Formats: sequence, structure tokens, C-alpha cells
Amino acid sequence: MAYHLSLFFHAMLLLLLLLCPATTLAQNHTDHFALLAIKSGITHDPQRVLDSWNTSLHFCLWQGVTCGRRHARVTKLDLGSRGISGSLSPQIGNLSFLRVIYLANNTFKGVIPPQVGGLFRLKALVLGNNSFEGEVPASLSNCTRLKHLVLARNNLFGKLPQQLTSLVNLIRLTIHNNGFTGGIPSFLANLTSLEIISAADNHLGGSIPNALGQLHNLQEVGFSNCKLHGMIPSSLHNLSSLTIVDFSINQIGGDLPKDIGLQLPNLESFIIARNKFTGTIPFSISNCSKLGVVYLSENDFTGKINIDFSNMPNLRLLGLFTNSLGSSQPDDMNFIDSMTNCSNLEQFTFHENQLTGVLPSSVGNLSSKLIYLSFGDNFIYGSLPSGIGNFANLEWLYLTHNWFTGVIPIELGNLRNIRLLYLGYNNFTGKIPDFIGNMSLLFQLSLVGNRLQGQIPQIIGKCKSLSSLDLSENNLIGAIPRELFQISALSIYLDLSDNNLVGPVPQEIGKLKSLTVLDLSQNDLVGAIPSAIGSCTSLEYLYLQANSFQGPIPLTMSALRGIRTLNLSSNNFSGQIPRFLEQLNLSSLDLSFNNFYGEVPMGGIPELGLPKCAMSAARLRKGSQLSRAILVVIPLCSLLVVAMVFSLLFYLRRRRRHTQPTGASLMQPFSRVSYGSILKATNGLSEQNLIGMGSFGVVYKGIIEPYGEMVAIKVLKLGHQGALRSFMAECEALKNIRHRNLVKIITSCSSVDFQGNDFKALIYEYMPNGSLERWLHPCSEQETENEEAPHRLSLSTKSVDCNRCGSCHSLPSSGI
Ligand SMILES: *[C@@H]1O[C@H](CO)[C@@H](O)[C@H](O)[C@H]1NC(C)=O
Ligand SMILES: *[C@@H]1O[C@H](CO)[C@@H](O)[C@H](O)[C@H]1NC(C)=O
Ligand SMILES: *[C@@H]1O[C@H](CO)[C@@H](O)[C@H](O)[C@H]1NC(C)=O
Ligand SMILES: *[C@@H]1O[C@H](CO)[C@@H](O)[C@H](O)[C@H]1NC(C)=O
Ligand SMILES: *[C@@H]1O[C@H](CO)[C@@H](O)[C@H](O)[C@H]1NC(C)=O
Ligand SMILES: *[C@@H]1O[C@H](CO)[C@@H](O)[C@H](O)[C@H]1NC(C)=O
Ligand SMILES: *[C@@H]1O[C@H](CO)[C@@H](O)[C@H](O)[C@H]1NC(C)=O
Ligand SMILES: *[C@@H]1O[C@H](CO)[C@@H](O)[C@H](O)[C@H]1NC(C)=O
Ligand SMILES: *[C@@H]1O[C@H](CO)[C@@H](O)[C@H](O)[C@H]1NC(C)=O
Ligand SMILES: *[C@@H]1O[C@H](CO)[C@@H](O)[C@H](O)[C@H]1NC(C)=O
Ligand SMILES: *[C@@H]1O[C@H](CO)[C@@H](O)[C@H](O)[C@H]1NC(C)=O
Ligand SMILES: *[C@@H]1O[C@H](CO)[C@@H](O)[C@H](O)[C@H]1NC(C)=O
Repeated sequence: MAYHLSLFFHAMLLLLLLLCPATTLAQNHTDHFALLAIKSGITHDPQRVLDSWNTSLHFCLWQGVTCGRRHARVTKLDLGSRGISGSLSPQIGNLSFLRVIYLANNTFKGVIPPQVGGLFRLKALVLGNNSFEGEVPASLSNCTRLKHLVLARNNLFGKLPQQLTSLVNLIRLTIHNNGFTGGIPSFLANLTSLEIISAADNHLGGSIPNALGQLHNLQEVGFSNCKLHGMIPSSLHNLSSLTIVDFSINQIGGDLPKDIGLQLPNLESFIIARNKFTGTIPFSISNCSKLGVVYLSENDFTGKINIDFSNMPNLRLLGLFTNSLGSSQPDDMNFIDSMTNCSNLEQFTFHENQLTGVLPSSVGNLSSKLIYLSFGDNFIYGSLPSGIGNFANLEWLYLTHNWFTGVIPIELGNLRNIRLLYLGYNNFTGKIPDFIGNMSLLFQLSLVGNRLQGQIPQIIGKCKSLSSLDLSENNLIGAIPRELFQISALSIYLDLSDNNLVGPVPQEIGKLKSLTVLDLSQNDLVGAIPSAIGSCTSLEYLYLQANSFQGPIPLTMSALRGIRTLNLSSNNFSGQIPRFLEQLNLSSLDLSFNNFYGEVPMGGIPELGLPKCAMSAARLRKGSQLSRAILVVIPLCSLLVVAMVFSLLFYLRRRRRHTQPTGASLMQPFSRVSYGSILKATNGLSEQNLIGMGSFGVVYKGIIEPYGEMVAIKVLKLGHQGALRSFMAECEALKNIRHRNLVKIITSCSSVDFQGNDFKALIYEYMPNGSLERWLHPCSEQETENEEAPHRLSLSTKSVDCNRCGSCHSLPSSGI
């Protein structure tokens, strides 16, 4: 309709121009020349928009150009989302009747021409999502009619010029995702028409000026990830018009004022996650009946949660995780009773707190729209209420590290959409329930560290989507069911260690062609390693220690080209140590406490100057035979690279409680690692930051801005076949993983580099050099067994993840 109208308008205009050439057409060439100058600044125009910009057509009829009705003067230039690149000609300043410049979603480079400041009729300057660089020209201060200034997602930097204090008509200021510095300018307080300030992802620094409280029309304010500190000034709490408040990912502290909910009754989104807020969550928040999104996660909130949620029908996302909430009283979780009216709740996360008590049965009356529910890492005891099975849409249930007892309720079997089920480190008893077999979408299952008994049910083979399974540290008995090996999706880990499993490992193990980690250690398994293990070509970590396996190392294992760690210790293996071990890329090999004989592959150690792995007397058993902890030494250069890369990915077993970054990987929508910040962190992917290389890509170390701590950045080689798939898989899987053998992935970056190519990176916790040697040389019993030793940097307590691969949103999303 609008299109037809404008066609009609253009036709009328054309008629007019043709009829009255003397009066109108001849009137002004300035605009014509300016537009041609703009055209000549554009170097790439894939949609051929500018083809119509030719002399046979009056410029008022050119695509993207709108003229005023009375004079044939350009009033609007709209070249948005056209894939255009080039620079913006300073001659735009000659289009003196311009009211709207809309160039968003292109690749304009270079500076914003100061001549724009001459366009005093300008109402909207929308340059978002381009590559403009440099500072914002002070001349813009002459555009006093400006209402919309949208500069988000560019490479602008410096301070916003003080002169902009003259823009008293400005309604929307959108500057997020740039490199602005110099604090939040206090002159903003003079822009009293402002309704929206969206400034997330800049390097502003400083504190929030008290004067902002003068902006009585302010509705949306977003300063997420702007390096702010100090407190939220009390003047801001006076702005009752506020609907969206996002101060997440800063260093802002202090208590929230008691009556905040009465002062800000219109709040719809209240996002202050990842700061240093303290004190209790004010009860008055109960009065914010329009709340839809509340993220208070990753702060230092304490005390009982006594919010009354019964008046928040719109509540959709509630994130309270990683605080110190809890009062040590058994009724800590009674607040859930008031949430049964939140019929739109989709995410409810309160893991990693200190909540005590029994989970109230009202948990079963929560919204049927619930998708994520997490309350791991608290002190919840008693049995798991059966109502937990009420959520047909639930995809994640995370309750690891609590004190639940009793059997796993049968109603859990109703969760037909469940994808991640983490029940580990509780005190669940009884058998592994058969209903597991009905959970056909189950992607990760962890029952580690409970007191489960009985056999592993054969029906588990029906979980065709399972990519990681952890049943370790239970009291499981019987043989490993063959059906388990039918799950070809198992690709991340299969951990059955530390149970009482018996019998041989079936030949079907060869079907696990994608499996990376297999841990069967500390059981009573017998027999030989099946020769079919040679088909598990993705294996990187194989732990078979502390069983009663016999026989030689099968020759087929020479096919395990990717294997890094092989632990066969404390079994009854015998025979000669095969030479092919030397050809494998092993960085750790433990054959101790067996009956092997023959020469141990050797070399390289002296040149490395690393501690020698002397045969430890304590590790020798059965006297004469050669049987010891050894390190297979591979050629010098590859040793370092391989070991470094993989020490990044894996770390020694840790079985401590409440020390891990835990469920921090759950659904935080706060990850904002851009291509630019990776470049910055790694000095432009420089060689100095290079720490490893593999077929998948390259690993750098660096300090990424929002984290401020050293991380390891694995940049995927996308040219390499399968790399993209591998990225997606790794991103989807690893970021959710909590397993003691795997290092924590912090976040990911899925972006486009400055050449327009896909760029994918995974960001892991970084292992400092000091501990690297320990992985290389697990010689000292004391060291390897001391699990309290700090094996890695603890980025732990504050870690952030992408919700979904590549979709790291920023709030508020007030346009670009
Ligand atoms: C065209 O517009 C410019 C700028 O407004 C003005 O200086 C010039 O005199 C105009 N030319 C004609 C022929 O009207
Ligand atoms: C000018 O643009 C119009 C509209 O796109 C097109 O039909 C015409 O062929 C073009 N003329 C020239 C000379 O390129
Ligand atoms: C247009 O602008 C440029 C640069 O801003 C200036 O040099 C030029 O004289 C202007 N042209 C006309 C026709 O006004
Ligand atoms: C920019 O492009 C994206 C994707 O093509 C689109 O969703 C968005 O609406 C565009 N933004 C503007 C302001 O045109
Ligand atoms: C930015 O523009 C590109 C096209 O140039 C588009 O694909 C992308 O979706 C836009 N991003 C946003 C956030 O609108
Ligand atoms: C604003 O315009 C006036 C004249 O209209 C000019 O003298 C002044 O330099 C301009 N200011 C800026 C910052 O460009
Ligand atoms: C705000 O406006 C007042 C009066 O208009 C002026 O005195 C003051 O300097 C301005 N503040 C800033 C920071 O520009
Ligand atoms: C809040 O607004 C009232 C009235 O506008 C004013 O008197 C009071 O000083 C303001 N409070 C703060 C903390 O700015
Ligand atoms: C705030 O909520 C409480 C109960 O939830 C209610 O009694 C009180 O009237 C509300 N206050 C306002 C100002 O709405
Ligand atoms: C739910 O809301 C209704 C009215 O909308 C109210 O009567 C009821 O008490 C609320 N339930 C709870 C548990 O607060
Ligand atoms: C929860 O729902 C059940 C039945 O659906 C009802 O009997 C019970 O009273 C509800 N509990 C709460 C706390 O609303
Ligand atoms: C789990 O059960 C064992 C044995 O009854 C008990 O010793 C232990 O304290 C329990 N742990 C927790 C966290 O409840």
C-alpha cells in the first residue's frame, strides 16, 4: 500500500516536473551534484540501487531519495540495508533540506563528515551498523532539531562532544557497540527530551552522573558493559517513567534502595546482572507488576528472597543465580509459592546461591511454559517434588550439588522435551529409572555422585540424542549394557567410572566413533580391551585404570591417532609395550601397576629441560617387570603445542563441591565477545599471543575486555572442512558441560571478520604456564593426587556464556 502511494506520488511529481520545467526542475542543481558526489563515494553496491541515479531521471525519482512536495529538494536519503560500502561524501552537507538520513545496515567507512552539522533541518541521523570511525563531529550540535541520533554498531571512539548539549529535542540516543570513552557525559542531563539512551558495550568508564536524574522523560536506559563503577545515583530512582533499565556487566555496587519498586512502578526489564550489588533484594519490587525480565544474577545479593511475585503476570525471565541468597532457614524457598501466577515464566534460574530447605511442592504449579529451571548449587534437601514432572516444555533441569535424597521421582519421565538433565552430586538412591528411555531428545545426562544402585538399564540405548553421559561415582552394578554402545551420538564423554560394574567391555564399543572421552576407571571390569576399540577414532582420553583388565594392549589401538591421554594403570595387563605408542600423539601415558615388559618409548626430555619422570619406587609393583609411570615423549615442537592446546581443554580431575563455575553456563544473555574485542585481546591475532595450533584452528591467549582475566581463544579455521560443523557442535555442547575432565568454555564468538568472512571462536578458561608442566609430567604422586591444588585460574566465579551460538543479545535493543 505504502509502496503504491509512493509510486503514485512519484508519478505525480514526475508529471509536475515535466509540466513546469522552468519553475521547479531548474530550481536547484546543488542537490543533484551532492547526490552524485555521494554516489561516487560508494564503492560497492550489490543491489544496484544507484543504477537509477542517472541523468535521464530527475534526482527526486532516484531510489532511496525523497524530495519535499513544494520544492524539488531532497528531504530524505534512505539507503538502509542495501549492502553498500564506501564512504559518505562531505557533500551531503549541501542537501540542506534533509530531514532524515538513513544509512543503517551497510558498510560505510571513514568519518561522519562534519558537514552533516550544517543540516539544521535534520531530525533523524541513523547510521547504525556500519563501519564509521573516528569521533562524533562537534558540528552536530547545530542540528538542534535532531530527535533520533543512532550511531550504534560502528567503530566510533572518543568522547561525545560537549557541544551536543544543544540537542534539546533529542529523543533517542543510540550509541551502543562502539569504542566511546570518557565516562557518561553529564551534559546528557540537559537533553531533557531524551526517552531512550542505549549505550551498551562501550568503554565509557567512570560512574553514573547524578544529573541523569533530571531526564524526566527517560524510559529506556542501557549502559551494559560500559566499565562503570560506583553506585546507581538515587536521583535515577526518581524517574518513574523508566521501563527498561540495563546496567549489567559493570562494577556497580551498593544496596538497592528499599522503595525502588514504588519509585519505578513501570519497570518491564530490570537487568543489573554481573555487578557488585549487595544487600537484600528489596521487597518493594513486588509492586513492579509490569516486570517481564529480571536479571539480578552474578552479584552479591544476600538474605531471604521475600519478593511476592503474585502480581507479576508478565514475568518471563527471572535470573537470580550466582549470588549469596539464603538465610539458612528452612523456608528459604517459600517465595516460589507466590510464583504460580507468573503464567508466562520461561526461564527461572537460581542456582549457585545458599538457599536452604525443602523445595516446596508449589514448584509444580509454575508456568507450563517453563523452558529452563535451575537450582543447582544450593543446600536444598528432602525429596524432589513430583510436580517437577509437570513441565511439558522444559528443556533444561539443573539441580546438581544439592542435598536431595530419596528416589528420582517417576514423574520426571513426563519431561518429554528435556534436553539437559543434571541431577549429579545429590544423595539420590534407588535405580536409574527406566523412563530415561522415553526422553528421546535428551542431549546430556548427568547422574554423577549419587547413591544409585542396580544395573544400568538397557533402555538407555533409546536415548538416541545423548552426546554425554555421566553415571560415575554411584553404586551401579552388573555389566555394561551393549545397548549403551548403540548411541552413536555419544561424542563428548561417556563416564561410568567409580562404580561396581563387572564383566568384560563388549566389542560393540567400536560403534562409538565420535566419542572423545571414555572413562571406565575404578570398576571391576575384566577381560581384554576389545580390539574393536580401534574404531573409536575420535577418542582423545581413555581411562581404564583400577580395574582387572588383562591381556596385551591390542594392536588396533594404533588407529587411535587422536589419543592424548591413556591410563591403563592398576590392572593386570601384560605383554610387551607396543612400539606404536611412540607414533601416537600421546601427552600422558600411565602403564604403572601392570605386568608389561619391554622398552618404554623415550626421548626429548633433556632438551626440554623439564623435570624428569623418574621411575617412582612407590609405583613399582610386581618387582622385576618394567612397569612404571612414563611419559611418552613426542618430537619437541609438537609436544609443546599439543600439550599446551590440550592442557587448555582438559584438566586434572577435581571432585570438590562448590568450587566450580558451575551452572554459570546456563542461559545468560550477556555475552558480548565481538570480533573486534578478540582482535584487541590478541593484539590482532598476533604471534606473541599464539599458544597452540591444531587441525581445527589456532589457540591464542589474551585478556578479553569484559572478563579482565586471561582466557584462551580458539579460533576455528573455517576453510577447513568440517570446521563450521565442529564449531556449532562444540559450542552447543561444551558450553553447557560441567564435567571434571573438561575445561570450562566461557563463551563463544560467531561473527564476521573485517573482510566479511565468517569468524568463529570459542573462549576457554586459561591455564597458566605453571600448571602446564604438571600435566606434562604427572610424576609426583603428591601433586597429581592433591586435588585441592589450584590447577587453573579461577575465572570461575564470574563467567558468562552465550545463550545460543552466536546470538548474544544486548539489551535494550532499541534499534541500531
Ligand atoms: C540552490 O540551493 C542552494 C542552497 O540552498 C542555494 O545557495 C542556491 O542559491 C540555490 N540555487 C538556485 C538556482 O536556486
Ligand atoms: C536510469 O535509471 C532508470 C531507472 O533505473 C533506468 O530505467 C534507465 O535505463 C537508466 N538510464 C541509464 C542511461 O542508465
Ligand atoms: C558542496 O559541498 C562541498 C564540500 O562541503 C563544497 O566544497 C562545495 O562548494 C559545495 N557545492 C555546492 C554546489 O554548493
Ligand atoms: C538491519 O538488518 C537486520 C538483518 O538484516 C534487520 O533485522 C534489521 O531490522 C535491520 N535494521 C534496520 C534498522 O534496518
Ligand atoms: C548489520 O548489517 C548487516 C548487513 O550489512 C546485517 O546482516 C546484520 O544483521 C546487521 N546487524 C544488526 C544487528 O542489525
Ligand atoms: C554552527 O553553525 C554556525 C553558523 O550557523 C557556525 O558558525 C558554527 O561554527 C557551527 N558550529 C559548529 C560546531 O560547527
Ligand atoms: C546545561 O544547561 C545549562 C543551562 O542551559 C548550562 O548552564 C550548563 O552548562 C549545561 N550543562 C552542560 C554539562 O552542558
Ligand atoms: C526526586 O524528585 C523530587 C521531585 O521532583 C525531588 O524533590 C527530589 O529531590 C528528587 N530526589 C532525588 C534523589 O533526586
Ligand atoms: C505494593 O504492594 C503491596 C502488596 O504487594 C500493596 O499492599 C501496596 O498497596 C502496593 N503499593 C503500591 C504503591 O502499589
Ligand atoms: C493469582 O492472581 C489472582 C488474581 O489475579 C489472585 O486472586 C490469586 O491470589 C493469585 N495467586 C497467588 C498464589 O498469589
Ligand atoms: C498447585 O496445583 C494444585 C492442583 O493443580 C492445587 O491443588 C494446589 O493448591 C496448587 N498449589 C498452589 C500453591 O497453588
Ligand atoms: C548422603 O548420604 C550419606 C550416607 O547416608 C551421608 O553420609 C551424607 O552426609 C549425605 N550427604 C548429603 C549431602 O546429604
